[in-house]
Amino acid sequence: MMAQMKSVKPKLRSVLLSLVVLWSGVSVLAQDGVLDLSDLANYANQTVPAYINRDNTPNGNDITDLGATLGRVLFYDKRLSFNDTISCASCHQQAHAFSDLDRASTGVAGTTGRHSMRLINARFADEQRFFWDERATSLEDQTTQPIQDHIEMGFSGTGGDPSFADLITKLSAIEEYQVLFAMVFGDAAITETRVQQSLAQFVRSIQSFDSKWDLGRAQVNDDVAPFPNFTAQENAGKDLFMRRPGPGVRSANCVVCHRAPEFDITPNSLSNGVVGAIGGGTDTTNTRSPSLRDIMKTDGTLNGELMHTGDFTLREVIDHYNTIPNPPPPNLDNRLRPRGQPQRLNLTETEKLNLEAFLRTLSGTSVYTDPRWSDPFDAQGNLSVITMPDGQLAITLLPDQTQADITARGVPGITYQLQQSADLETWTDTADVTANGSGALSTRITVDQERQFFRFVFQTSE
Ligand code: HEC
Ligand code: HEC
Repeated sequence: MMAQMKSVKPKLRSVLLSLVVLWSGVSVLAQDGVLDLSDLANYANQTVPAYINRDNTPNGNDITDLGATLGRVLFYDKRLSFNDTISCASCHQQAHAFSDLDRASTGVAGTTGRHSMRLINARFADEQRFFWDERATSLEDQTTQPIQDHIEMGFSGTGGDPSFADLITKLSAIEEYQVLFAMVFGDAAITETRVQQSLAQFVRSIQSFDSKWDLGRAQVNDDVAPFPNFTAQENAGKDLFMRRPGPGVRSANCVVCHRAPEFDITPNSLSNGVVGAIGGGTDTTNTRSPSLRDIMKTDGTLNGELMHTGDFTLREVIDHYNTIPNPPPPNLDNRLRPRGQPQRLNLTETEKLNLEAFLRTLSGTSVYTDPRWSDPFDAQGNLSVITMPDGQLAITLLPDQTQADITARGVPGITYQLQQSADLETWTDTADVTANGSGALSTRITVDQERQFFRFVFQTSE
């Protein structure tokens, strides 16, 4: 909140008392390591193509610009691991569609048992259970599990690890989190539910709909029509992927499980027959796949090798479905066992190339660089949060007309800077003001300029 004061004498009192809110007038250059909450990125009202129908946002946790911004800070904050070395983004990297090129990702105490998953269009997945083996019952439920994992982030509360309650205590002592949680939730309390809600909002906000496939889909009436912007090879691959099997039909039947246009996994899928494990042995419980969008970049480079084992090239994936192992692995989905026998697609080399070309059309470009999903911390790991305190800023002129009292509402115990400006561009610190036990900010100012604008700002570096 900001108030304008013009000390043109005769009009002084009336101008002083009319508060001018100037959010849109302020434009702070987006800067590395600076998060300006008066100039939020758009997370809540992104354009979603008309043909996308699925949305797993639960009641009560719609994406808001503020909530997703808090989620972004948490996602990139290494302090969410017990020794300040690992953040969600260590294993979910924007440059690789929020996956990891390493087969197993490195956490605070070793490496993960499965390959990291891309976090692309998680919001549009019909299957609401997350992880390869679907052990999380919702995205909200998922988000705090890595924090409580002994290997990943280490707040497990077992075997000598600190507990999640210890993380809450740690975060509650950080001023910018008090300010951020208060802005999002109305008070500064940090709870597991609030951490889950904001992280889930951020993950759900990550969307990728600028692929060649989307450009083509926008020009036709359905998913099966040939796309005018596709090469003959890409359309042939699309047919193989999309067609249902039948007499005389060449089909790879992928779409029964990876359903267009989201390319998410069907909720009732069982195993696809990939039953290896990174450390050796077998792992037959994996029935979820991330969306097949952005498995690679548009140049064909994979965003990490594929499957929960993280060791399949694209050609190896196609070869796997071409010849499902016999005898069939445990938990194999019946759709990969036509007439009771492990699937034999008998794809030709040309058909394999067509499928590969088609899968490459599912890759977008903007999600890899869009600043709203990028690291808000600077190279040294510092972050400044610029925010105005909640509520109306009020100015009361004293009888002598040379002084006034300014009040606003902040977070109890937090120190804000009262800043003033004559032109709304250059701001100078006027006073440090600490909110009292009930959050009230109050200070007396001198009225001595032609034009004076005031704002309270909370700004910090770790
Ligand atoms: C040490 C590496 C590591 C860290 C840190 C990590 N993840 Fe993951 N993430 C993984 C791996 C590996 C999987 C797959 C694990 C499995 O299925 O058993 C995964 C899976 C997920 C999924 C499931 C995606 C899907 O489609 O089912 C989500 C969502 C996710 N992580 C979000 C997060 C968030 C949020 C954080 C931070 C609080 C985080 N991850 C921290 C490695 C990591
Ligand atoms: C019976 C359902 C089913 C069918 C049919 C199916 N898949 Fe899958 N797919 C899955 C499951 C389940 C996974 C995750 C398996 C795992 O990693 O354990 C998966 C994983 C994948 C992955 C790896 C995704 C990643 O993020 O690593 C690719 C690529 C893929 N499938 C492509 C295809 C193609 C191409 C076809 C058609 C030839 C196909 N699938 C047919 C169920 C299916």
